[in-house]
Amino acid sequence: MSAHAVHLPAYTRPANLRPFDVRRDLLAVADLVELCFAPTLDSDGRQYILQMRQAARAGRWLPAQPAGLDAPLMGMVWIEDGVLVGNLSLIPQYRGGKTRYLIANVAVHPKYQGRGIARQLTLAALQDVRNRGRHETWLQVEHKNSIAVNLYSHIGFTEQMRRTSWRARPPEAATRHVGVRQRHKVDWEQQVAWLDAIYPEAMRWQLPLHMSTLEPGLKGGLQRIFGQQRTLQWAAEQGGDLQAVLTWQSSSLGADRLWLAADPNDAQLPMASLLAAASRELDPDRMLALNYPAGHATEALQAAGFTDLRTLIWMRFPWEVLS
Ligand SMILES: CC(C)(COP(=O)(O)OP(=O)(O)OC[C@H]1O[C@@H](n2cnc3c(N)ncnc32)[C@H](O)[C@@H]1OP(=O)(O)O)[C@@H](O)C(=O)NCCC(=O)NCCS
Repeated sequence: MSAHAVHLPAYTRPANLRPFDVRRDLLAVADLVELCFAPTLDSDGRQYILQMRQAARAGRWLPAQPAGLDAPLMGMVWIEDGVLVGNLSLIPQYRGGKTRYLIANVAVHPKYQGRGIARQLTLAALQDVRNRGRHETWLQVEHKNSIAVNLYSHIGFTEQMRRTSWRARPPEAATRHVGVRQRHKVDWEQQVAWLDAIYPEAMRWQLPLHMSTLEPGLKGGLQRIFGQQRTLQWAAEQGGDLQAVLTWQSSSLGADRLWLAADPNDAQLPMASLLAAASRELDPDRMLALNYPAGHATEALQAAGFTDLRTLIWMRFPWEVLS
């Protein structure tokens, strides 16, 4: 995580590289992303590609910046003999009065890999962000993808954290659970402190986690009534001490969300009991997704029936040490 002096090489945009044009490129980008990510695509990834195709079908009617479209709108593409063979999406995120950029969908057609195309696309994206005012620039890369990890590290991105995406189905409702009750108002102070430790501010902008919607009392209640997502919460305690709070949050994607508030170093996490209690109120056919710091609570999560979908390294470009 240490910051070392970094410099962006003097930049001249290669002739094959041009900005992404949503009306012209979206279908070709959907095809390329599907081809390049085929081995790791999950149901959410497939849904994302489907959304890109649906948006592309709107064809020439698509405005240059369609509102509310869940598809990339900015980025760089690489063209060889008139065919789009490389892509990088630059996704702006506005939260808490701050603009951040996420680099995503970096993909180069297998026939053209190893020629420096991804490197050029990434340098062009950084140049673009630099011109816009050096906003925080992030990307997420599968920890086993050593080619991509090396590519980004050599350019100067530094690892900030590793997160594992866990998946589970609610267990049979008959599964035994002990020491689990409804979440109470008195739990909130500790719950917030744990949530802050497990889902720190540095990453919350990328998650559909809005702390205020989990708050007990009127404020959170109003947000839950008028917000789009439903939530349920359970607390585990032992000998009168709070051990963890589990939140379920509905989602329009393939899996509903779980947020786990607990001491991240607690090896005795009562996850199986929490999940068993939750399953009495959850749809047994809906998948559950939990994002958690990699390497933490692994045994407790596996014992509760969770499987490890992937571990992502979150990397950030250190604009602050750019020479
Ligand atoms: C990762 C990917 C985008 C790299 O694209 P690319 O155009 O081949 O990458 P580049 O040619 O710019 O090479 C980047 C670096 O990787 C190295 N590299 C590229 N292909 C390699 C290979 N097959 N084996 C070993 N190293 C390789 C290059 O030597 C270069 O190293 P350097 O930074 O030290 O110069 C491409 O392999 C791909 O589309 N993979 C599938 C999708 C994916 O994983 N995307 C990344 C998501 S975060």
